[in-house]
Amino acid sequence: MTERRMEATVKSLNGRIAVPGDKSISHRSIMLGALAEGRTTVEGFLFGEDCKRTVKCFQELGVSIEQTEQGALIIEGVGYDGLKEPTEVLDVGNSGTTIRLMLGILASRPFHSVLTGDASIRKRPMDRVTVPLKQMGAVINGREQGRFAPLAVSGENTSGIVYDTPVASAQVKSAVLLAGLGADGETVVREPAPSRDHTERMLQAFGVNLEQNGTSVRLKGKQKLSACDIRVPGDISSAAFFLAGTAITEASEVYIENVGVNPTRTGILDVMKKMGANVVKKHERIDTGEPIADLEVRSSALTATTVEGDDIPRLIDEIPVLAVLATQAEGTTVIKDAAELKVKETNRIDTVVGQLKKLGANIEATEDGMVIHGRTPLKGGTVDSFGDHRIGMAMAIASLVSEEPIVILNQEAVDVSYPGFFEDLSNLSVTTG
Ligand code: S3P
Repeated sequence: MTERRMEATVKSLNGRIAVPGDKSISHRSIMLGALAEGRTTVEGFLFGEDCKRTVKCFQELGVSIEQTEQGALIIEGVGYDGLKEPTEVLDVGNSGTTIRLMLGILASRPFHSVLTGDASIRKRPMDRVTVPLKQMGAVINGREQGRFAPLAVSGENTSGIVYDTPVASAQVKSAVLLAGLGADGETVVREPAPSRDHTERMLQAFGVNLEQNGTSVRLKGKQKLSACDIRVPGDISSAAFFLAGTAITEASEVYIENVGVNPTRTGILDVMKKMGANVVKKHERIDTGEPIADLEVRSSALTATTVEGDDIPRLIDEIPVLAVLATQAEGTTVIKDAAELKVKETNRIDTVVGQLKKLGANIEATEDGMVIHGRTPLKGGTVDSFGDHRIGMAMAIASLVSEEPIVILNQEAVDVSYPGFFEDLSNLSVTTG
């Protein structure tokens, strides 16, 4: 365990930055690249702990993945049928996306694989994917009938299903779609609200035919994927820390280059604008099927808002930093319909509320979210990431407006999605006090 002391002297953020590659897109680039026939090149890949686990798992499955000197990845795709039975347990570390999407891929492979992860992963619910995958004919065994990892998976003669997901989750949707690709017949996934659609976009870039209709996706099994070159945009979930940090500090102005602005991910931009934040999208463009823009953000006076309903899946990962932002907004911010926060890397209702309370925030947990009364000055103190990357980074952003230093325990967790986060933050920081 390592800790980091954040001084209370920083008063504004200024400069230009490019955040690391999008985590969701990076995972999918490895997975689809491996399942394709031919060579896929990935530029802008996120070399965070989670995505490195996905690389390692596919190497265990017999896929050659190499890094060029320029930092691109070259994947020699083997096709669905070319994956090999792994001799090692596949260890996903802290990565929910790796384990859930890989379960989908391995659900229709006629060989034995075992997937596990760290203590957090072994506590997170896997039945949300194992239930539909078993309906497709996969054989999955694990604690509590396949609710928890470690999980053993194999599958022969699986067939497509029509599945109504009980939660809006891209991991569930993607697991079923990827299993459907290896299965016979047609698979349809319908969601209660739209979740991020990177899998659908990238499958199409790899030449897969699929039909999207509202919140329903349909594809035929046994389609071939053909290799393609991918450029991964910057992760809006990482950019969100600087968007919030700039908005809440005085005389700040930050320009963030090349950020993915897929509408299924931009809830944070919409909510910040509603709160009075000054965020402008520049140079909007499309690359490898994904919308991209530069984001310009400036300090501003913020007012409270309510975040709920279909907006929640569009900003679910940004809620820890949104809570920090809300402590600096005038009035009462309510976050509801977000019970999914309880099954993230930590129970993020408890960790966000608990840590921000320690810093003097006026915040309460609710059954499905939290209520934050602003505007409150934040004090210093010792907080803990509890091994959750986004909690660690949210606490670092809180330190930008705290009156005394903040010590963050387990600060190394940020490497899961943003190695170099503290260096980037320090490069943007201007000490005016
Ligand atoms: C992800 C989906 C989301 C998100 C996670 C990444 C993905 O999880 O919170 O960080 O890459 O598909 P859920 O599908 O559980 O909502």
